Amino acid sequence: MVWREEPLWERPELRVAAGHTLRPGGFDLTDRALEHVGALPGWRVLDVGSGLGATVDRLRSRYGVEAWGVEPSAVQIARSGRSDAVIQARGDCLPFAGESFDAVLCECVLSLLDDRKAGLAEFGRVLRPGGFLILSDFDAPGASSGDSCVARAEPLSLVQERLVAGGFSVRLVEDHTERLKELAARLVFAGGGTGTICGGTGRPRYYLMIAQKKGTDHDG
Ligand SMILES: C[S@@+](CC[C@H](N)C(=O)[O-])C[C@H]1O[C@@H](n2cnc3c(N)ncnc32)[C@H](O)[C@@H]1O
Repeated sequence: MVWREEPLWERPELRVAAGHTLRPGGFDLTDRALEHVGALPGWRVLDVGSGLGATVDRLRSRYGVEAWGVEPSAVQIARSGRSDAVIQARGDCLPFAGESFDAVLCECVLSLLDDRKAGLAEFGRVLRPGGFLILSDFDAPGASSGDSCVARAEPLSLVQERLVAGGFSVRLVEDHTERLKELAARLVFAGGGTGTICGGTGRPRYYLMIAQKKGTDHDG
């Protein structure tokens, strides 16, 4: 995808509005998900589209996991200062062997992948059986044109269908649209406008989902 202008997540207004976690809900949703899956010290965890690297740092310092990021933007990697832990790559073509990770996080990134279906398949490939996928993203009709996050977002029901078809069990789905509204309001006051996260057709929602790759005695 070639962006027509500097994308929102590289603009200073979003950093003012969201801090170092460039997504609705910040660490609250990340912590909620990691506590739900019972992340253990020593787990290998991948953050897809790691942005400014804040989640990679959080994973290491708070949960004691071995955390890595992938991020296609050299600008974001340089800003993160975590080139030791972040590899330049795209989410739908991950440079890791199969079954390398206990958990994969993809926070406010799925809608940006050129090939969402291939991306979900890649997450399944690199997860060990019984491993967890933690996804948060926009739930939107998906039919509008444009290159903003919300214009590119797909319906939550489609993402769920793809995960089930790809060998996952969906363990948790929660609506966190209030967090999207909070971020949109902060963006307005930071001078960023909200078109890129709230524009397009219909009213987008924001969700947190946890899915588990099948293949253990405990996965139901
Ligand atoms: C809204 S930001 C979220 C960053 C981070 N996950 C966070 O929550 O702070 C979206 C990030 O996805 C990255 N991105 C864009 N296209 C991508 C792709 N095809 N694969 C992986 N990451 C991508 C962007 O460079 C950006 O850093």
